[in-house]
Amino acid sequence: MSINVRKVGIIGTGHVGSHCAFSMVLQGACDEIVMVDIDKEKAISQAADCMDTGTFLPHRVTVKAGEISDLKDVDMVVISVGELLKENRLGELKLSVSIVKEIIPELMKTGFNGFILVITNPVDIVTYAVQKLSGLPSNRVIGTGTGLDSSRLRKILSDLTDIAPHSIEAYMIGEHGDSQFAAFSSTTFGGKLLTQLMKEKPQVYGKLKFEEISQRAALAGWEVYKGKNSTEFGIACTLTRLVNAIYHDEKKIFPCSALLNGEYGYKGIYAGVPAVIGKNGIEYIVEIPFDKDEKVKLDRTMGIIGEYVASTGL
Ligand code: 2OP
Repeated sequence: MSINVRKVGIIGTGHVGSHCAFSMVLQGACDEIVMVDIDKEKAISQAADCMDTGTFLPHRVTVKAGEISDLKDVDMVVISVGELLKENRLGELKLSVSIVKEIIPELMKTGFNGFILVITNPVDIVTYAVQKLSGLPSNRVIGTGTGLDSSRLRKILSDLTDIAPHSIEAYMIGEHGDSQFAAFSSTTFGGKLLTQLMKEKPQVYGKLKFEEISQRAALAGWEVYKGKNSTEFGIACTLTRLVNAIYHDEKKIFPCSALLNGEYGYKGIYAGVPAVIGKNGIEYIVEIPFDKDEKVKLDRTMGIIGEYVASTGL
C-alpha cells in the first residue's frame, strides 16, 4: 500500500496559471503539478522556475511540464487559458469558448474523471461551457466566480472599519463581472449583522456607503490591471483556497461559480454564490437572504449571465 500522490494539472501557464502553480507550491496544496500550454517552452520554463524554489520551502511539490494526454489521472485540472482584455471580461467569451471547445474533449478522451476548476473569463459562462463539454457532474466543475471579488470586498470593509478581514463574512454575488453586487444585508462582523452595527456604532460603521463599496469591489480587478496589465496573485490564492478545501474536505463555505438548480430561483446557469466546498467539490449551495434592493440586483446579474450562456449555443 502507498499513499496517493495528490496531482493537479494546469492548462494555460501564463500570468494566472503560473501563479496558481506557485501559490500551490508555496502552500504545499498538492504533491505534483503538471503544467500544459500551447507554448511548450513556456510551460517547461514555468515548471523549472517553480522547482527552483524547492530548497526554500517546507513541502516537496514536483512541478513538471506535460501534455493534455498526461492529465488522465490527476485529481483536478485548472483551466487558465485565454487572454485578459482590459475592463471587458465578457469580451473574452468568444476566444475562451473556442479554446475550451478544443481542450475539454481532448482532456475527457484521456479518461480524466476528476475535478475541473475554471478561472478563464468570463468565468461563469466558461464554467457552464466546460461542464457541458466535459459531461462531468456539476459538483465537480467549479468556477472561481466571486471568490476573489468577495475577498476584495472584505479587504475594503476591513480598511474602512479597522476590523480584520477574517472576522468579516461578506459576499459578492452573481457574475464575476460588472453586474455583481455586495450582499450587505447579510454581511456580519464577528457574527453580528453589519446593518445592526451601523445603528449601534455609527462612529465606526455609519460612514459605510454601500453602493460605492460594492462598485469598488466589483471594479477592483481593473485597478490592479491598470499598472501591470494582468491580475494574478489574488486569483492564484483564490484557486489554492478551493484546492485546499477539496483535498482536506474542509466543508468550507466559500463563494464560487456553481451551477444553480433552483437555488435563488434560478436554474441551469453558473453564478457566484456561497457554497459548501469539500471532498465532493460543491457539496451544496448556501442560500443567503436578500433584501428588496439586492433581489433586484440579483435578477439583473442572473439575467446577464443567462443571456451570455444562451449566446454560446451549448
Ligand atoms: C480579476 O478579477 C481580471 O478577472 C480578473 O482579477
